[in-house]
Amino acid sequence: MTFPATVRLASVDEVSHIDLRPVEDDDLDAVFEMMRDPESVEAAAFTAEDPDDRAAFDAWIGRQRPNPDVAYFVVTERGGFAGTIAAFTIDGDREVSYWIARHAWGRGVATEALRLLVSREAERPLFARVATHNVRSIAVLEKNGFTEVSRDVDFAPGLGRDTEEIVYALLPALDGV
Ligand SMILES: CC(C)(COP(=O)(O)OP(=O)(O)OC[C@H]1O[C@@H](n2cnc3c(N)ncnc32)[C@H](O)[C@@H]1OP(=O)(O)O)[C@@H](O)C(=O)NCCC(=O)NCCS
Repeated sequence: MTFPATVRLASVDEVSHIDLRPVEDDDLDAVFEMMRDPESVEAAAFTAEDPDDRAAFDAWIGRQRPNPDVAYFVVTERGGFAGTIAAFTIDGDREVSYWIARHAWGRGVATEALRLLVSREAERPLFARVATHNVRSIAVLEKNGFTEVSRDVDFAPGLGRDTEEIVYALLPALDGV
């Protein structure tokens, strides 16, 4: 198999120390801080209405963790907190989402975390939504074999205005699973 020259595959040494584990109570402060980082909120765009609202965050994550339709993990890098990744069902579609803490950006953490999640999630297609300007996240999806299926415009709380969103899917035929 050949890859386009612009796609760099991370080496085994770079990614073998990345793992997924269940969310623990002690993680919640780090998750809250990560999800209100202004640069991250601007990139993610489709965020909580007010990322600084701790009560709203606690209520939201309190609904996610016990929900049997939600697989919500902490991403670890060498055992330390590096972010979160999740698979969940919306209107019958299985969707994935991830968020990596700023200190861990640019080292292939999201790419490897998504590879691990995809290997645990049997359902295809798997969907993902990403703001058009979120180039890092688009790279993460495309490196994992996701392809664009559609675009729409919706209100993005993280930007305070409408913005374009791309729907990506990991299709069964391209997956090789
Ligand atoms: C998007 C996000 C998850 C990426 O995490 P990460 O661990 O840094 O991602 P990776 O290192 O695995 O891959 C990033 C890729 O972005 C690409 N990239 C980085 N900066 C870029 C830029 N300015 N322009 C284009 N591509 C860029 C790189 O090609 C890199 O791929 P490479 O490994 O081939 O070099 C992280 O920035 C994040 O959590 N952002 C805030 C929340 C968010 O946007 N979540 C996703 C919502 S859809």
